[in-house]
Amino acid sequence: FRTIIEPFRIHSVEPLRMNTRAQRHKALEAARYNLFKVDADDVLIDLLTDSGTGAMSRDQWAALQRGDESYAGSPSFRVFKDAVQRLFPFTHVIPTHQGRAAERIIFSVLGGPGRVVPNNTHFDTTRANVEYTGAEAVDLVISEGRDPSSRHPFKGNMDIDGLERLLEARADDVPVIFVTVTNNSGGGQPVSLANLREIRRVADAYGKPVFIDACRFAENAWFIRTREDGQQDRDVADIVREMASLADGMTMSAKKDPMGNIGGWLALNDDELAERCRDMLILTEGFPTYGGLAGRDLEALAQGLTETVQHDYLTYRIRSTEYVGNSLREIGIPVLTPIGGHAVYIDARAMLPHIDPLEYPGQALAVALYETGGVRACEIGTVMFGRQPDGTEKPAAMDLVRLAIPRRTYTQSHMDYVIEVAQHVCDRAAELRGFRITEQGSALRHFTASFAPL
Ligand code: F0G
Repeated sequence: FRTIIEPFRIHSVEPLRMNTRAQRHKALEAARYNLFKVDADDVLIDLLTDSGTGAMSRDQWAALQRGDESYAGSPSFRVFKDAVQRLFPFTHVIPTHQGRAAERIIFSVLGGPGRVVPNNTHFDTTRANVEYTGAEAVDLVISEGRDPSSRHPFKGNMDIDGLERLLEARADDVPVIFVTVTNNSGGGQPVSLANLREIRRVADAYGKPVFIDACRFAENAWFIRTREDGQQDRDVADIVREMASLADGMTMSAKKDPMGNIGGWLALNDDELAERCRDMLILTEGFPTYGGLAGRDLEALAQGLTETVQHDYLTYRIRSTEYVGNSLREIGIPVLTPIGGHAVYIDARAMLPHIDPLEYPGQALAVALYETGGVRACEIGTVMFGRQPDGTEKPAAMDLVRLAIPRRTYTQSHMDYVIEVAQHVCDRAAELRGFRITEQGSALRHFTASFAPL
């Protein structure tokens, strides 16, 4: 059938607060045109992020009731650890309150001045946690991964030659090789098994550990199953285990594919490294059998992990994201291709060529989507990356707007509405104007900056 039905029915509903264009205009003015400052009550369809915004299942809500809140040795930790190890059979599983806490712990142990960490593309928090220790974060995605119109099936792949060159030049400085699946900052693009095997080969040649930033591992495995030679008949859980078998450890945000509203973990094989990480965990997160989480969260995540690798779910998940992307493309809106797993990225610079990158076409588009139809998306462009360390401004490599799709939260008619809103915006694209920043903080300005329309 052509129609992708949601493989669930709705059992508890959360009302949307309908509003008018005039009300949204007022909300925008009050927020100084920064969508992070718009109250979520004033948003109709919230596509700001897919992180922690998914809907839990009946069985996850039931699992919450089984949560055991013992400080030490909680049986909920065993349930959680078993569920993680069924997919990622690493020896040590260390729960954290979210992904960046796992990053902070691993890089505070492995990072430091003079060190360099390669990744296909570091997510912002990963880069920030590497750099905070004084180490350098290097992005080594293949060149197709930087080309918005390339149709390469695995645009998240690591540039193996680049990795070898880095190791040849600075082997002693590299404590670990990271690979992010899927590559969020590069458009939610997958990494192939073949590429993971190559990373393993290079890592072994230099005796280096490989860690996966596995936030969207199930979506990545689904892309492997549908796009990589010889993978079509495999169970996704089996592909995930093979991905894990090519690594020595992982960091994880359980707010993505594990279907949690909060949570994360660090998992690894090295006993001594695990001990040092647990010492850091106790310092800021908590005792090793709960990390930064309640026992009930651990139970909900264990259940979520069994649901996220179900083929019915992944078929729906990937096809519904693709549906939004393809529909936008048919209207004539330039989107990053192939469509990623968790989000559709609109190329705002191509869509609004009359707006100079230094007048923030991504911001103009995100504001127009909100004002026109109450759809909240996220600028990923010159507002986010344009400011240089010396305070000057430079256009970012791309001006994108990300429509991130929360898991199991919105229906197809919500997505049809989003497409219609985008069509309205596209019809009057030539009328849109850029923005200037009137106030900004010292770091991560996109969260707090104030804007004025030009
Ligand atoms: N790694 C990747 C690839 C991510 O996408 C994120 C979060 C993190 C690490 C950090 O995890 O938020 O649990 O601390 N990405 C969210 C997003 C925030 O909107 O893409 P966290």
